[in-house]
Amino acid sequence: MPTSTHLASNPPIAPSKRKRMKTIIEPFRIKAVEPIRMTSREERTRFLEDAHYNLFSLDSEHVLIDLLTDSGTSSMSANQWAAIMRGDESYAGSPSFHHFQDAVRHLMPFRHIIPTHQGRAAEKILFTAIGGPGKYILNNTHFDTTRANVEFSGAEGVDLVIAEGKNPASEHPFKGNMDLEKLEAFIKEKGAEHIPLCMLTVTNNSGGGQPVSMENIRETKYVCMKYGIPLFLDACRFAENAYFIKMREPGYENHSIEQIVQEMFSYADGCTMSAKKDALVNIGGWLAMNNDDWALNCRNLLILTEGFPTYGGLAGRDLEAMAEGLKEVVQEDYLHYRIKSTQYLGQGLIDAGIPIMRPVGGHAVYIDARQMLPHIEPLHYPGQALACEMYLHAGIRTCEIGTVMFGLQADGVTEKPAPMDLVRLAIPRRVYTQSHIDYVIEALQEINENKSAMRGMKINWQPKQLRHFSARFSYLEDESLRRKMVIN
Ligand code: F0G
Repeated sequence: MPTSTHLASNPPIAPSKRKRMKTIIEPFRIKAVEPIRMTSREERTRFLEDAHYNLFSLDSEHVLIDLLTDSGTSSMSANQWAAIMRGDESYAGSPSFHHFQDAVRHLMPFRHIIPTHQGRAAEKILFTAIGGPGKYILNNTHFDTTRANVEFSGAEGVDLVIAEGKNPASEHPFKGNMDLEKLEAFIKEKGAEHIPLCMLTVTNNSGGGQPVSMENIRETKYVCMKYGIPLFLDACRFAENAYFIKMREPGYENHSIEQIVQEMFSYADGCTMSAKKDALVNIGGWLAMNNDDWALNCRNLLILTEGFPTYGGLAGRDLEAMAEGLKEVVQEDYLHYRIKSTQYLGQGLIDAGIPIMRPVGGHAVYIDARQMLPHIEPLHYPGQALACEMYLHAGIRTCEIGTVMFGLQADGVTEKPAPMDLVRLAIPRRVYTQSHIDYVIEALQEINENKSAMRGMKINWQPKQLRHFSARFSYLEDESLRRKMVIN
């Protein structure tokens, strides 16, 4: 048994100072398992036909490896499950709220911490309070629900990410950065009085899970401060962003993740958060800010739609799980495994000759389906064709982010190719092991070898908005049309 003197003379070695071996291991062992149901290609063909080739319509029991999203799909730790048992379900003033608030404030020292059931609920409340017609909300890139909530309030969402952030081949280390010149020019052109808020999404999900540098957060804050505009972080993947800062930004290599996170938030006046990502829980979120007037207004709206301010649409047990998750997510061993295992998948695909967005982001790998399948033109949905093939071939579920998602214009009829046709392989946190990922790489290698046989798709039914969730597809049958497309 080591004595306390022994411990004092042998302080723990900081993870960053430890020599790491080449093999990445999952920094956990498995205590409870959930079986994956194996299926045959014949079965999957039937399931996909029944789902009209829309992967959102599949039963998850029929999926082997589910890479549809990293949101709400994390495995919780034994400590989180234990914390769930400690949840206090009092309507008002529950100690679970205080545990949650303390854990958030430790990393993000805002005056007002308002729990919500997930990220978009925080967005809805915030933009109802401060949005409205004639106003602009600025962001590096709005996530879909953020933009939808901005627009629902009557305001306009403006994306001002740096040019490299839109170039899939650029290896810029911080492709999520705000374009500071464009930001200042926009503020001068429209007038600061029409801009109630500027946001930075860390990491930038819609731009490929790319990080924002500390320098850029600081500079964005300075521009905003000059014009009296508050800066909020869309903080869903704040810990992954912090790890990229530690790895890539000179001057931060010896900082702890907690210190980096605290500095990131020191430049912000508030944040929206989906705890379904970097708080390692299956449901939850919050809205945080320093402005007392805004907070009063937001809490009143919270009571209308979510619940009393000490539980905000959640159970006490959910608040406890978030408090514990926030402690675990900033552990460097966890983040090392998380970021390296996403890169492992990306490197495997690069080695197999599959074009992906570079560099690999934090939570997902994005395959450039348009480049991989040049014989399928954008209006025949190469991303959807690839996502369907991955399911048919190996039971892997992913998400098209391309012409299906963004191609339908506001009139609900006209279609245009999206800027890119991507397929997102989002990796749930602490769920899959390296052999699962090896299986995904092997499946894609095999698909890539036979890709010339893959066909484009057409839509047989779609709603006027958000068609990717419910559109019905079938394969293009017309061989002569396909040949003509190849020539074109
Ligand atoms: N902001 C970002 C950057 C997100 O990625 C998400 C969700 C939200 C806000 C909304 O949070 O789902 O808790 O309401 N992204 C998920 C995804 C859905 O699959 O990327 P929510």
